[in-house]
Amino acid sequence: MREGAFIRSFVARDGRPVRLRAPRWSDLDDMLEFINSLVEEKAQITAMEKKTRDEEIDWLAKLLSDVEKDRRIAIAAEVDGRFIGLVEVTPERGPSAHVGILGIAVRDGYRDVGIGTEMIREAENQARRLGIEIITLDVFASNLRALHLYKKLGYKAVGCIPRFFKRDGAYIDRIIMAKTLT
Ligand SMILES: CC(C)(COP(=O)(O)OP(=O)(O)OC[C@H]1O[C@@H](n2cnc3c(N)ncnc32)[C@H](O)[C@@H]1OP(=O)(O)O)[C@@H](O)C(=O)NCCC(=O)NCCS
Repeated sequence: MREGAFIRSFVARDGRPVRLRAPRWSDLDDMLEFINSLVEEKAQITAMEKKTRDEEIDWLAKLLSDVEKDRRIAIAAEVDGRFIGLVEVTPERGPSAHVGILGIAVRDGYRDVGIGTEMIREAENQARRLGIEIITLDVFASNLRALHLYKKLGYKAVGCIPRFFKRDGAYIDRIIMAKTLT
């Protein structure tokens, strides 16, 4: 998919219009601020260290190149011209090339109004285009919002590794979820 390509728009439950589009270079500083805001709020994701601008440049360069070559799905959400979230589906390799790993985050202040739901639905549509048949993801057992969202969209918990994560001295189970795309 072309950098910045428009995908579709919809209205969130709080009335705000949301645009879904491919990521682009000019998202760099917003994305850096976004990942670091997730680290700061101690979001239930694996990233625990803030990123530098150089690290973000390398990460975004690879993301844009993969998306351009249809090797990965990445969809940015935008509200009032501001980048507010990203969903990715990264295909596995070899005999699991029909499996994609999903990751998603929405900026604090834009959650619980259905944006994540629409982002995942669109990511699933795009993933089919790449030949993805199964989507898997990992989630902290304590991430009740994410668990609710994934279950609502038909993801099933297929495994659990107890005490896989340890944050601030507390253990958290890792839940593995999967969905077969129809
Ligand atoms: C998880 C995340 C991506 C969801 O995005 P979102 O835009 O808030 O998602 P939606 O609004 O579509 O759905 C959230 C749902 O969780 C529900 N919810 C919120 N808090 C909840 C809780 N404590 N327990 C159960 N459900 C909860 C909401 O009511 C909503 O459900 P509904 O649509 O049936 O009413 C977003 O909250 C986020 O980025 N969190 C921080 C990063 C993160 O956790 N990423 C996922 C890692 S696996």
